[in-house]
Amino acid sequence: MTQPLDLSDFERAVFFTGAGISAESGVPTYRGRAGIWAEYDPEKVASQAAFERDPETVLAFHEQRRALVAACAPNAAHRHIAAWQADHSGVSVITQNTDGLHETAGSSDVVELHGSLWRTRCARHGVLKDRSDGPYQRRDCPECGARLRPDITWFGDMVDTTAFEEAGRRVEAADLFVAVGTSGVVWPAAGFIELAARSGARMIEINPEPSEASVAFSTQLRQPAAEALPTLFPLPAD
Ligand code: APR
Repeated sequence: MTQPLDLSDFERAVFFTGAGISAESGVPTYRGRAGIWAEYDPEKVASQAAFERDPETVLAFHEQRRALVAACAPNAAHRHIAAWQADHSGVSVITQNTDGLHETAGSSDVVELHGSLWRTRCARHGVLKDRSDGPYQRRDCPECGARLRPDITWFGDMVDTTAFEEAGRRVEAADLFVAVGTSGVVWPAAGFIELAARSGARMIEINPEPSEASVAFSTQLRQPAAEALPTLFPLPAD
């Protein structure tokens, strides 16, 4: 077992999270045994082509995800990162998740690489927040009436360059990079792992299973996130 670490020994820590950090909150991951993509074909429910062909099916899938996530609470992993952010400057969260559980746990300054279940967007008039617990409050743009789409990066979409540029700056500057609950198979997000290693950060992976990117990590904790994070980074005694 790795010795506990004091986050205040690091200038700039990045927590790079994937679906696994929300697994213990009850949010299914995308891959693995009960993964979402074992049940749904992303080409049919999470792509621009599907949205143009059959928007109702795409919106129904996302409304189902919204209702499921709305019934889930952040777990000790989300809360622990948020507590460290409150206590220590220089702690960033870069997430691939769209569930918003980092913000619900109190994290500030979260870079969402793949957008959010809690926003929609009009191609011409930009993004709308939509925090209702399941069905979308609006399905058409209040400005032009065009159909709104979930503000999520789907397979085949261009990435959110603003988010990716911000994430790149933070990863290049990091002296600690902790990947929590990601399979490391989806690019270009997975590229931040190599970038962190090249930038000389201390590399830690928290995942009960080996991932595609495990080789990049000098420390690999084969534990669930909610157990590993509080043990590895105990909060300063109050
Ligand atoms: N704690 C930590 N890790 C866990 C836990 C847990 N309790 N449970 C599962 N995991 C790990 C799994 O072993 C797996 O490696 O979380 C990882 C989840 O992998 P994916 O489901 O592939 O999720 P992610 O890596 O976030 O996927 C990246 O793929 O479909 C796209 O846009 C989607 O953002 C998503 C991207």
